[in-house]
Amino acid sequence: MPKIILHSPTGALFTVDAQIGASVMETAVKHGVPGIVAECGGALSCATCHVYIADSFIDLTGQADDFEDEMLDDTASVRKPNSRLSCQIRMTAALDGLEAEIAPEQ
Ligand code: FES
Repeated sequence: MPKIILHSPTGALFTVDAQIGASVMETAVKHGVPGIVAECGGALSCATCHVYIADSFIDLTGQADDFEDEMLDDTASVRKPNSRLSCQIRMTAALDGLEAEIAPEQ
């Protein structure tokens, strides 16, 4: 089972097991990781699941599609080149160890 490592804005570190095919957001919420609000439940309409992907995983997670890219313009925290909406990243075996920082404001 692949793992996701999430850094909270408070400095806490959460390592959680993910099901293949589950989104990073779903996995974080399921494990009670604070900081990912996910108001819309993954419907790509709230931008409250904002994370910053670690540099070493950017190629593996790929790029936001056009709609996600538009939503990323409306995040509460500053958008960075490694910003993604975590509901749009589906876990695969290749993403084992995926590391991301949870945006401080959602
Ligand atoms: S959970 Fe709403 S956009 Fe990701």
